Amino acid sequence: MSATRIVALVGNPRPASRTHGLARTLAVALEHALPDATATVDVDLAALGARTLDPADAEASAAVERVLAADVLVVASPTYKATYSGLLKAFLDRLATGALAGTAAVPVLLGGAPDHRLAVDVHLTPLLLELGASVPVRGLFVLEREVADFDAAAADWAQAHAPALVAARPA
Ligand SMILES: Cc1cc2nc3c(=O)[nH]c(=O)nc-3n(C[C@H](O)[C@H](O)[C@H](O)COP(=O)(O)O)c2cc1C
Repeated sequence: MSATRIVALVGNPRPASRTHGLARTLAVALEHALPDATATVDVDLAALGARTLDPADAEASAAVERVLAADVLVVASPTYKATYSGLLKAFLDRLATGALAGTAAVPVLLGGAPDHRLAVDVHLTPLLLELGASVPVRGLFVLEREVADFDAAAADWAQAHAPALVAARPA
């Protein structure tokens, strides 16, 4: 099997966000847990901002290509209004239906409200399935108060779920 390309897609409009930090931490943990993984490629939508909405924007198109090249795609967003950010949706609207076929996606939401823990599975996972990704494990909802201890949690999560992500890859 060829190398596993990991991409961390971050849908926070603010640059250098905690959401970005979480996505990177999880992706690096997956680099250690997955066989033959390459260094994570980051796609931080804060760098694109409003250009995400311009169909002719070359950088936004290049970001789409980086996402489409992923074997394992970590998709991280802040929880906004009990779902994901509008910026993430605007970006994913650039992808054709089914465009993520062959990609194993890992949905991640960061939020402040424990009541919204299910938002990752109820809202973000269906969007990724609609795009053709396989989502072999439950999404990860991280509370703001859990961010400080996320390094260890990410390593445990990656070890526990790497086999399912490997199995989801096309032969
Ligand atoms: C516009 C807005 C809406 C939010 N809505 C929710 C929400 O519905 N549920 C929740 O748990 N947190 C909500 N939050 C809190 C954010 O999810 C939380 O602050 C964010 O994930 C922190 O990520 P960051 O530090 O990377 O920006 C909201 C924050 C903002 C700014």
